[in-house]
Amino acid sequence: MKFGYFDDQNKEYVITTPKTPLPWINYLGSNDFFSLISNTAGGYSFYKDAKLLRITRYRYNNVPADTNGKYFYIKDGDTVWNPGWQPVKTELDSYECRHGIGYSKWDSSKNGVNAKVLAFVPTDDTCEINRVVLTNNSSETKELKLFSYVEWCLWNADDDMKNFQRNFSTGEVEIIGSTIYHKTEYRERRNHYAIYSVNAPIDGFDTSRDAFLGAYHDNHDPEVVFNGKCTGSEAHGWSPVAVHQINITLNPGESKSFIFVLGYCENPVDQKWESKNVVNKAPANAMLAKYKTDADVDAAFAKLNAYWDDLLSIYTVESNNDKVNRMVNIWNQYQCMVTFNMSRSASYYESGIGRGMGFRDSNQDLLGFVHLIPERARERIIDIASTQFQNGSAYHQYQPLTKRGNSDIGSGFNDDPLWLIAGTSAYVRETGDISILKETVPYDNDMSVATTLMEHLKRSFDFTVNNKGPHGLPLIGRADWNDCLNLNCFSEHPGESFQCFGPSEGPVAESVFIAGMFVKYGEEYAQLAELLGDTAEAGRARKEIKIMYDTVLKEGWDGEWFVRAFDAYSNKIGSKECEEGKIFIESNGFCSLAGIGVKEGLAEKALDSVKKYLDCKYGIMILQPAYTVYHLELGEITSYPPGYKENAGIFCHNNPWVSIAETVIGRGDRAFEIYKKTCPAYTEEISEIHKTEPYVYCQMVAGNDAYIPGEGKNSWLTGTAAWTFCNISQYILGVYPTHKGLSVDPCVPHGFGDFKITRKFRGATYHIEVSNPSDVEKGVKELIVDGAHVEGCIIPITEGKTEYNVKVVMG
Ligand code: BGC
Repeated sequence: MKFGYFDDQNKEYVITTPKTPLPWINYLGSNDFFSLISNTAGGYSFYKDAKLLRITRYRYNNVPADTNGKYFYIKDGDTVWNPGWQPVKTELDSYECRHGIGYSKWDSSKNGVNAKVLAFVPTDDTCEINRVVLTNNSSETKELKLFSYVEWCLWNADDDMKNFQRNFSTGEVEIIGSTIYHKTEYRERRNHYAIYSVNAPIDGFDTSRDAFLGAYHDNHDPEVVFNGKCTGSEAHGWSPVAVHQINITLNPGESKSFIFVLGYCENPVDQKWESKNVVNKAPANAMLAKYKTDADVDAAFAKLNAYWDDLLSIYTVESNNDKVNRMVNIWNQYQCMVTFNMSRSASYYESGIGRGMGFRDSNQDLLGFVHLIPERARERIIDIASTQFQNGSAYHQYQPLTKRGNSDIGSGFNDDPLWLIAGTSAYVRETGDISILKETVPYDNDMSVATTLMEHLKRSFDFTVNNKGPHGLPLIGRADWNDCLNLNCFSEHPGESFQCFGPSEGPVAESVFIAGMFVKYGEEYAQLAELLGDTAEAGRARKEIKIMYDTVLKEGWDGEWFVRAFDAYSNKIGSKECEEGKIFIESNGFCSLAGIGVKEGLAEKALDSVKKYLDCKYGIMILQPAYTVYHLELGEITSYPPGYKENAGIFCHNNPWVSIAETVIGRGDRAFEIYKKTCPAYTEEISEIHKTEPYVYCQMVAGNDAYIPGEGKNSWLTGTAAWTFCNISQYILGVYPTHKGLSVDPCVPHGFGDFKITRKFRGATYHIEVSNPSDVEKGVKELIVDGAHVEGCIIPITEGKTEYNVKVVMG
């Protein structure tokens, strides 16, 4: 069952009922100012950091769901309604929400009045614009009252939810004309404030939540709206809000437009005041001056669309498969931008006060983003590397505003260092910019011990070399990619964090998954060393990689698949010897995609076992059989009920690893079958089961052991976005950036047909036509670049050339 449809022409998903199974959200903003916005206008805004600079207040896990947002109430006689349906929930005569690329729109009607709302964050400003256009489609004159509503957050979203003894007394506002200033804490330690303004004279305002709602009311029945009159309240402490009232007369056929601006403004510390205790409003005035008219808004909106059209023109495909085209050309890349911006900080499932930027997460997010804006990826790599420790290990997370490692979680996740190589290598392959390797980068933000980035990568590589266990496999530390496989934790009491409890290191527990990573990213490290002319270092690295490769085959092969890990007693995890958790996805996917066991025929065997034991209708489960009892020696993974999350859920993130591994051994049918199972454009059809947004990936889909298999959770912020984009664009469609140029080596299912790809790469545009006359899954028979035959699959780079016409014949 569907709750809307894709409009590919406009790059939008059109939601046709407000009653979606879960809030279906969108992200506005791509630089510093961000808003999350749902199809019923719920959500919140923040500047740079969802924890430290939260602008509006949201209530997670609230009843009714998804309340608090940027609401508009329309009072038409006795009827009060919202264009987004919530929070009053008056049945609408028509409702439509379009989530587009960086904007959302509503088109709703009630009793002959139509409301069109357009919400977006301009490309180069720190504000969100909401344009509300009301039209009278009835034959009578309408006397309407429009109320706006946002509830301010007292900046630190964590403190805002907890520290009521203080923050019920700190709120301060100011009202000048149609602009409401939120200036809490500005008097002392802050140099920023927020504004909510409208480009029209107002007939009333409220800034005290209690005055607006009335005692024991909530935002679904605010007294002010139902009475039709603002009280002019001025908030002192408690909960400041911003409400405008505009009385509107609309003749039949008449339309009126109102532009609301929610902005974040900052003053230099020495220019905070106009005069004693009078806020310097210059930045607010300058911002508001830019969005006075419809023409201003149209221009800013056109600029946003042009910005995205440009970004999305970097990789496009034209194939016979609409779903692939739609995901590759629009939604998958869009989600890659969002995950790059947010890491795992702010979504409807990540509260924005917890995890900040993950070291491994952000490096992986880069893989799907780097082609879009390489300069931002470069900056991110330096930020991430700056939180690395001198021994090569790393803070697991850092806060985007301060860019400092989070000491609450600390380090000890032994896969982290290798992801830095993955991110950096992707950047250098994309851009050819080896200067990044020579940048001076601190350790733990301490410049006095800084080295080159290449030295950071060396320490990443050597961290694994220097931290091996009894089988010669990498020690796992607190966890590897699977945060819930906590082999040194041994937690017996609730409240102890599985990730932080106990010693971070153990001398025994080992990860076969990290071994796979070491082989894959070790080789990418060796190639970077070669680029810098250090063949000795490349040689040394390859010797270590060979040792690891052999060790995996000797110690990590279980007969039909790769073992997952060894626990603190050196017992196998993910082996036929185990009662539960006999086979895991991670080691099989990653070792195979790294090429381990390919020539020995073992990778193929491992992937066959994955299909046999882990596959189900909705994707590949992370492990089987699910753990039914808690294992002290395995940690959080066994704390989840069977079928959920890391305990036998379908963790979408690592499904593409298996699909990529299938392309490595040339099985296009199977690679594509895996791709389809978790692909939103395909799961759209079962939205009533899947529940999350049908235009983006979610982190987890319930596995076969769950109560409702196929039910998705935790949409938007997941490494799935980057990995599926890499999978479809670089492995299945096969256009992969190498140091020497673009390689074109597709691996497609039978019947996929011919296709065209346009790829912008290192200053040139590549027009690539792939034909597949013999309908093979993999193999390039012929590569013709501007009429000339080229050996192999890599298009050589010709300095100064800006257009390449490439023909690839599979066979
Ligand atoms: C985390 C990842 C981790 C994954 C699997 C996600 O929630 O953000 O870092 O790899 O879970 O445990």
